[in-house]
Amino acid sequence: MSRKYNVAVVGANGAVGEEILTILQEIDFPLNKVVPLASSRSAGQNIEFNAKQLAIKELTHSVFEEEDVEIALFSAGGSVSAEFAPSAVKAGAVVIDNTSHFRMDEKTPLVVPEVNPEDIATWKDTGIIANPNCSTIQMVQALKPLDEAYDLQRVDVSTYQATSGAGKSAMEELVGQMQDFFAFKLDQSEHKSFAHQIALNVIPQIDVFMDNGYTKEEMKMVNETTKIMHKDIELSATCVRVPTLRGHAEALTLTFASDVDANEAREVLAKAPNIIILDDPQESLYPMPATCVDMNETFVGRIRNDNYRKNILHMFVVADNLRVGAATNAVRIAQKWVEIEGEK
Ligand SMILES: NC(=O)c1ccc[n+]([C@@H]2O[C@H](COP(=O)([O-])OP(=O)(O)OC[C@H]3O[C@@H](n4cnc5c(N)ncnc54)[C@H](OP(=O)(O)O)[C@@H]3O)[C@@H](O)[C@H]2O)c1
Repeated sequence: MSRKYNVAVVGANGAVGEEILTILQEIDFPLNKVVPLASSRSAGQNIEFNAKQLAIKELTHSVFEEEDVEIALFSAGGSVSAEFAPSAVKAGAVVIDNTSHFRMDEKTPLVVPEVNPEDIATWKDTGIIANPNCSTIQMVQALKPLDEAYDLQRVDVSTYQATSGAGKSAMEELVGQMQDFFAFKLDQSEHKSFAHQIALNVIPQIDVFMDNGYTKEEMKMVNETTKIMHKDIELSATCVRVPTLRGHAEALTLTFASDVDANEAREVLAKAPNIIILDDPQESLYPMPATCVDMNETFVGRIRNDNYRKNILHMFVVADNLRVGAATNAVRIAQKWVEIEGEK
């Protein structure tokens, strides 16, 4: 009989944590038990898992050993991972971390299973495998097959990122502001999650600005792409928050070393794992956030050649940020880890 694992979900009642629990119920994961963890604010609350009520436990340094946790999926913020991931590792668990805390650590693999699954092999160096930023994951899934075919040199990307990228409270902020709009009191609405009102607005700022004029989110896309693809690709990003709830969209302009035909590139992408092509403009068929929610695939459309240069392609890439951009990727890493390490 194959082995089954004790899996902790840290941040179990957050936007990403809830999605991880949903996916673990949808797929055939070798689960012995699930241990939902959150702060003392939520400890004792019940969540439903496989038709049973599970009580959320408080995240403590000792809980991983007490519950004999073997796989710990962290989505409770960078400072929480910084403090508690080492305790999970000490208790013998592999940590799969959704926060940015360990991503650029040299010894910690940063993995998108469709792109660099081989990097999981080094997990023992720290006991931690990092999950990239949501906007990076869906982009590199599309970049990898095109790089293999045409030698990618440069990426220019503008993002259209949903409020859920900033957690549950940010989604509530958008909904609250829309309610205020219909009550004619939007001008009195509060904004905590973003620098400005997000309802009926777009904000060209995600995270804080750095000295070079880019935001941290934009530089995450630059640095994480280099690390995941093991290649110095020129990349320039403009990350924008838009008033949607779920699903990040990205307009990509890709420059290759060789000339590339849009129809051929579409075929290349269609064969790539977990990519679905939605590309029939005459029928108004292209990817949109509204059609990718709850999906585990990345959708690509509007694939077209540049008007001027034969080595440049443009396309539109959309994925559910809570799934592909976080929970699905984390669970796929766990599945790969089980495959590679579990049976040793
Ligand atoms: N949203 C996305 O698209 C996305 C994508 C990739 C990565 N991430 C990363 O994943 C993390 C969580 O994001 P989210 O969107 O799920 O946030 P969220 O909806 O605000 O949920 C945060 C979760 O963390 C828990 N938590 C907070 N402080 C804690 C503490 N001191 N000890 C234990 N648990 C604590 C919360 O539990 P309580 O209710 O008890 O406070 C809640 O379960 C963040 O680091 C984020 O950057 C998010």
